[in-house]
Amino acid sequence: MTTKKVGVIGCGLMGHGIVQIAAQAGFEVTVVETEQAFLDRGIARIEKSVQKLAQKAVEKGKKDADSAKKDAQATLARVHGSLEFEALKDCDLVIEAIIEDLPLKKDLFQTLGRVCKPEAILASNTSSFPITEMAEASGRPERVVGLHFFNPVQLMRLVEVVRTDRTDEDVFAAARSFGEAVGKTPVSCKDTPGFVVNRLLVPYMTQALLMLERGDASKEDIDAAMRLGCGHPMGPLTLTDYVGLDTTLYILEGWCERYPNEPAFEIPASLKRMVAEGKLGRKSGEGFYKWDGDKIVG
Ligand SMILES: NC(=O)c1ccc[n+]([C@@H]2O[C@H](COP(=O)([O-])OP(=O)(O)OC[C@H]3O[C@@H](n4cnc5c(N)ncnc54)[C@H](O)[C@@H]3O)[C@@H](O)[C@H]2O)c1
Repeated sequence: MTTKKVGVIGCGLMGHGIVQIAAQAGFEVTVVETEQAFLDRGIARIEKSVQKLAQKAVEKGKKDADSAKKDAQATLARVHGSLEFEALKDCDLVIEAIIEDLPLKKDLFQTLGRVCKPEAILASNTSSFPITEMAEASGRPERVVGLHFFNPVQLMRLVEVVRTDRTDEDVFAAARSFGEAVGKTPVSCKDTPGFVVNRLLVPYMTQALLMLERGDASKEDIDAAMRLGCGHPMGPLTLTDYVGLDTTLYILEGWCERYPNEPAFEIPASLKRMVAEGKLGRKSGEGFYKWDGDKIVG
């Protein structure tokens, strides 16, 4: 099974990165958005990022200016935007990267099942929803996988490749090969809540919040402990601010509702309260810390 043409749905934070790495790896990529303005914004982001990489390659002496420019142009020429799902009908692999909304994703998989060629592989980049539900909605569950990239897609080296009970072996193998072809290290996982990374990370963040609520240690000391004691690049409360308190709450609410007997899924009262107060972390300027852009200022 060879993948040549790739489709991506959604050209937001994750989608634009997936489009970029696929085009850089030589795939023809069609990206579908809901509105021209969103498409233009996503493609402009890709252009900026590709040009920055070309400039870096020249500065580091890896390429001369002429070949860097030509490579960047060739990458961008492989990116095609559309507002129509019909544009995906020739794609061998279609990756969904729309907002984290399960009913919307299921609707989309139903459309993809109708529009895409029968042998096409359909993948979701969801962080927290069961791939199985989208697979069933598509009408071709054996050809559906999870391809979970990490933010920022251009830099993070991991992709989680998720199989459901019904995913065909050759589909799973092709999805892993695609991950490798775009320069990532694939890890395989069953269709479980949060897969590998978020299943470990979100309960860890929860425990840090509960520790702070109990007054066991200050936020600065909890963060310093994990940075200096475990070598993490940032502590769990900085990380929660970085991810977004609303996003963290949304994931936990979904899991608590879906898996009420899983003790690792618990919603700290402080998380609910802070989200209600509009303290969403870095993006709102305040969470556990005060932020100015990417910097903690208080
Ligand atoms: N943000 C992260 O750190 C991260 C990391 C890993 C996975 N994810 C997952 O990736 C997915 C996308 O997240 P994001 O952060 O890129 O969101 P985003 O809001 O930045 O982008 C979503 C894009 O999808 C578009 N869209 C929405 N509905 C659409 C539809 N029906 N058809 C076409 N386009 C549509 C929106 O216009 C928007 O541009 C989510 O499932 C999220 O859970 C996010």
